[in-house]
Amino acid sequence: MNNSEQVSESADESATDPANVPAPNPSFAPQHILVTGGAGFIGANFVHWVARNHPQVHMTVLDALTYAGKRENLDGVPAANLTFVHGNICDAELVESLLSGLNQRSAAAVPPIDAIVHFAAESHNDNSILDASPFLNTNVTGTYVLLEAARRHDIRFHHISTDEVYGDLALDEPRKFTEDSPYKPSSPYSASKAASDHLIRAWHRTYGVKATISNCSNNYGPYQHVEKFIPRQITNILAGIRPKLYGTGSAVRDWISVEDHCTAVWAILTHGRIGDTYLVGANGEMSNIDVLRMILECMGQPSDAFDHVNDRPGGDKRYAIDATKITRELGWRPRFTDFAEGLDETIQWYREHEDWWRPDKDATEAKYRLQGH
Ligand code: NAD
Ligand code: DAU
Repeated sequence: MNNSEQVSESADESATDPANVPAPNPSFAPQHILVTGGAGFIGANFVHWVARNHPQVHMTVLDALTYAGKRENLDGVPAANLTFVHGNICDAELVESLLSGLNQRSAAAVPPIDAIVHFAAESHNDNSILDASPFLNTNVTGTYVLLEAARRHDIRFHHISTDEVYGDLALDEPRKFTEDSPYKPSSPYSASKAASDHLIRAWHRTYGVKATISNCSNNYGPYQHVEKFIPRQITNILAGIRPKLYGTGSAVRDWISVEDHCTAVWAILTHGRIGDTYLVGANGEMSNIDVLRMILECMGQPSDAFDHVNDRPGGDKRYAIDATKITRELGWRPRFTDFAEGLDETIQWYREHEDWWRPDKDATEAKYRLQGH
């Protein structure tokens, strides 16, 4: 198992994609990707991006449509690019049927699945503190089920992971996370993601699964659930609720636009070195209180119009990504580095999509009240 087993990409494809400057590694041109969790925030953005930029690629989205997934997130993706399957990644029979092509609605027109891009996860730290069990099922067992299927069918596997597997950094140290940082997860969520990363590495080393991993920092953009920091504050203001800041708001996150995350995933899927891990970030470090003040200003609110609420138990202080490896090896660079502009566009998206977020708002806030958040 090595890179040379992968098929070549046609020259014109990478030339039209600004994210894919020529890379040193042999390339892979997926024809049909199984996108797990494709109805969630990042997965849906990825499906839209691939359909726009690589329309020759078919995608089968496998999504359980948990509270975090919506089928309508994929509205607008051309039918020719998409097969949607409502199902669970822990369902080994279903996964096997998809990889065997048995479940394909138009088998004649669609090539067999040749890659898995694995976004599906329970993704929210606060939920994992209330109840870790769905995190262990989906993030650990689900990843195991997919790896076994990828192993049987000898197909390419890209695993979407998080910088949180490395724990946190002190606020005042110059150090950032690199691919060599030790694993030190803090929450049940990040521990379950760390476990899934270890499974990927073991299945690559032991069975030769053609896997890569990306560990990305905090994403922002359209389709993000209202439980997450930025959408929660925006929709609070729109709903007449005061924004809620955990603790003093001194914790730092390294923000990246979701579209930049998507182009990084594509660069790794198509040019990444098999068996390798790539950190993805856009030098977007900012404290929570500064982000909240930007939202307040952008939405015409006084700078003190928010409440301090309980901090997250065990909450991580700071994340910061050193993205040198993906930049040097794959030529990937973030394009959307003006955070103020990106935040403005995100606020505009939530203003224009109240129908999308409103149904989730009350239940989300009720859950937060129980946690003192
Ligand atoms: P999300 O919670 O918005 O979406 C998760 C999706 O997975 C949903 O559509 C949900 O229905 C689906 N899903 C959950 N359990 C499933 C199961 N058992 N079977 C099939 N589908 C299931 O999450 P997100 O923020 O889009 O994150 C996607 C991935 O990216 C996750 O693996 C997460 O760990 C990782 N990640 C997220 C961020 C971020 O800032 N949001 C940053 C780095 C990495
Ligand atoms: O770093 C990548 C990770 O980023 C991903 O792996 C996770 O899936 C994703 O949810 C995100 O995790 P965080 O815990 O960093 O994101 P969250 O939006 O939950 O919180 C960001 C920061 O804001 C954190 O310090 C807690 C704080 N916070 C959060 C909420 C919901 C608040 O101050 N107020 C809030 O209302």
